[in-house]
Amino acid sequence: MARTAPLGALGRDDLSLAGGKGANLGELVQAGFPVPPGFVITTEAYRDYVATTGIGRTLPHAPDAAAARALFDAPIPEALAEAITDAYRALGQGPVAVRSSATAEDLPEASFAGQQDTYLNIDGVPDLLDAVRRCWASLWTDRAVAYRARAGVDSAEVSLAVVVQRLVVADAAGVLFTANPANGRRDEAVINAAFGLGEAVVSGEVTPDEIIVADDAVLSRTTADKRVRTVVTSSGTATADVPPEERGSCVLTDAQAVALAALGVRVAAHFGVPQDIEWTLAQGEFLLVQSRPITALRPPVAPAPTAWPLPRDDGMYMRASIVEQMPDPLSPLFADLIRPAVAESLHHVLRRFFGPDPISPDDTDFVTLNGFAYYFYSNAGMRRLLAATPRGMRVAFGRHSDLNGVPQWREHGLPDYQRIAGVWNDVDAATMSARDLLRGATELIAAGADYYTYVQAVIPQAATAEITFTRLYDLLVHGAGRPPALTFLVGEDSEPIRAERSLFALARWCRETPGVADAVVAGDALPEAQQAAFEGRLAEHLARYGHATYNLDVMQPVAADDPAPVLAALRFALGGQAVDPDARQARQAEDRARAQAWLVAHVDPVRRRVLEKALGNARALGPLREDALAAIGVGWPAARRLLRELGARLASGGLLDVADDVFWLTGEEADRAASAWDGGRPVGPSASVAVAARKAEWRGRRQVTPPGWLPAKGLMYRLFKGFMPSNEAVQSGPTLTGLGASAGRATGPARLLRGPEDFARMQPGDVLVAPITTPAYTPLFALAKAVVTDVGGPLSHSSIVAREYGIPAVLGTGSATARIHDGDVITVDGDAGRVLLADGPDTE
Ligand SMILES: Nc1ncnc2c1ncn2[C@@H]1O[C@H](COP(=O)(O)OP(=O)(O)O)[C@@H](O)[C@H]1O
Ligand SMILES: [Mg+2]
Repeated sequence: MARTAPLGALGRDDLSLAGGKGANLGELVQAGFPVPPGFVITTEAYRDYVATTGIGRTLPHAPDAAAARALFDAPIPEALAEAITDAYRALGQGPVAVRSSATAEDLPEASFAGQQDTYLNIDGVPDLLDAVRRCWASLWTDRAVAYRARAGVDSAEVSLAVVVQRLVVADAAGVLFTANPANGRRDEAVINAAFGLGEAVVSGEVTPDEIIVADDAVLSRTTADKRVRTVVTSSGTATADVPPEERGSCVLTDAQAVALAALGVRVAAHFGVPQDIEWTLAQGEFLLVQSRPITALRPPVAPAPTAWPLPRDDGMYMRASIVEQMPDPLSPLFADLIRPAVAESLHHVLRRFFGPDPISPDDTDFVTLNGFAYYFYSNAGMRRLLAATPRGMRVAFGRHSDLNGVPQWREHGLPDYQRIAGVWNDVDAATMSARDLLRGATELIAAGADYYTYVQAVIPQAATAEITFTRLYDLLVHGAGRPPALTFLVGEDSEPIRAERSLFALARWCRETPGVADAVVAGDALPEAQQAAFEGRLAEHLARYGHATYNLDVMQPVAADDPAPVLAALRFALGGQAVDPDARQARQAEDRARAQAWLVAHVDPVRRRVLEKALGNARALGPLREDALAAIGVGWPAARRLLRELGARLASGGLLDVADDVFWLTGEEADRAASAWDGGRPVGPSASVAVAARKAEWRGRRQVTPPGWLPAKGLMYRLFKGFMPSNEAVQSGPTLTGLGASAGRATGPARLLRGPEDFARMQPGDVLVAPITTPAYTPLFALAKAVVTDVGGPLSHSSIVAREYGIPAVLGTGSATARIHDGDVITVDGDAGRVLLADGPDTE
């Protein structure tokens, strides 16, 4: 095998022979990019050296790194030295850069960057051979050895290539990222530039200028005070002071920056992924000296919105009610499909309350502002609504009231919704027309929105029953040792608790079936004999509970189509980290029995009977609130299945890159494409660019906390802001205020959960911090020490479940997810409704 090779003879696949640096430089040369000429002393040469000198045998036994490096004092055997000398002569001799090029076969290239030596301005054969040996020896620094030990790489197997390259006596040098690492944007390039050779930049000795280029123009630049630069000396390089008058001047002109960025764009296009490039500038010419992929580049994020322009100024926009289930900006398709559905269901409910609808279609809307869902009410419509209220109240509370939420929900709301979902669950999506797929999803989403109006009618009835009991209890029961009222209210089954028990039953089966529990915990394949049984049980669980939504946007997977969060919860259950719900309920039942005995001993029978009647009512109705809420996603698995089938067709037709991108189309685009598909026409040119831009925009918008009410002024705002589900005040300082929804105080590391994709990160003892929680979050409460949310009130899911688990909760803070960082140690005071933030003073 070749012990040296000219750069131009190498390509990106020659990693093991030429190392990452050498292989990519070879690729650049072959593709015609400007690179200083050079050659690579391959990994074969290293192996040849350690074998011929015999140090390969002693190296692994060297007592320490210094001793290992000392072994490289052995001269390079003649034949190899000759090969290197020949290659150097062929390059034309003179000053060169001698650069370590690691293979990183077993390790990510990034971890290796800068670990091995590089020598600039090496001149003449003896110095070259010396420098090469020093590069090889640099595989054996303490740091490199320790790193390999940690990564489990056998040091006896490592090898190193060396790039020898004509030295560029650079006027300036630096780094070019062809995508912006700060915001992930692939259409921005970031240039770091300093005077002199690049060593001072890559070693961090000098703060370089930073220039951001987008659309062939300089978007921004920061010009640094560049105190030093690397210069060539008679025998190498040195760090020298930059004359004071030059320090603050720009290293690159705008035109140069744009030209360099353009070069980078071509390199990135050649490699197919954004690149991290090292460049030099000499005599007005850019030469590239390294290129490698940018590791761990985040997905692109557009700037966060700062203004909230309102489409209409004759009304108000608010985020409450069904919007609480939509904490994130909406996907374009969901926004368009839910808009008429919510607007129509609003009129439906008004008709139920008021008989003739007091407001016209023009008075209400369900829109997005910066992508976030808002109800709109016109001022005129609101006035008419308030004027009609007395009549509405009569209807509501009259003898034939249909505000009686629970029976309405039980007899109409839930069964109607289940029936519609059932119809679409049973269809064979593959045989449907594209427009029918869309129609089905639209109908399901409308049914879900309509169903939510029944949920809203259950909530007050359930709440009233609980409040009635609590009030009576406070009124009638006194004395030392009085059990808390809550003791009587918790421990009842509701849909999320039933889901949790079903999961624990699955965990129990896994534990009792040989080999299953271990495989599930490790994420390994199950024993073949148990595979089908496990899948059957999981499918049963998902069929029963897998529709629970984390977030109402139909773009978000539900457990039925992505069980990953359920499997994470199963792992917790198997690891014994989560509280077993049966054990919890047994304990609660004991507490209740004790409390009951206390009542018998301390409260007279007449008062007790009154209390018991109210309690019976509260225990029967309270859990229905959770049952009602948990069913909101009943139609979602089918809606998602239909939309993804449509997406798959549009992907096969070239409109989309992948089926799931269907959610990033607008309703109109999806409709048009569906019609085209059914008509056998092309579904349109690729929407790839638009979809990527919408995703970036969505990520940018997701960074902000949407105001709960817009415009934040006027009579209505003052009247209603106290009822909003999140604290509307702008908060700063060491504490965060919300609503204390479950008592107690706990301190722990914050776990920021934006959605199901974060569930697996939750650890026992963490404080769960989320925009909202929905019934699908319930298994996480079994691990949590406390709960904090942006949105939620005393009747929200988080509140009810936190009380059930006996952990403190502070809800509706408005800005928990914006102000708390993942891992911050915070203290949640559920009695005071306050969260002590990580950087706050300790008030213990
Ligand atoms: N042929 C060269 N001519 C001039 N400068 C060079 C040359 N090769 C590398 N350099 C400079 O030295 C810096 C570090 O070299 P490199 O071998 O990439 O070390 P590292 O692996 O630590 O990044 C480069 O960023 C570049 O600025
Ligand atoms: Mg480098």
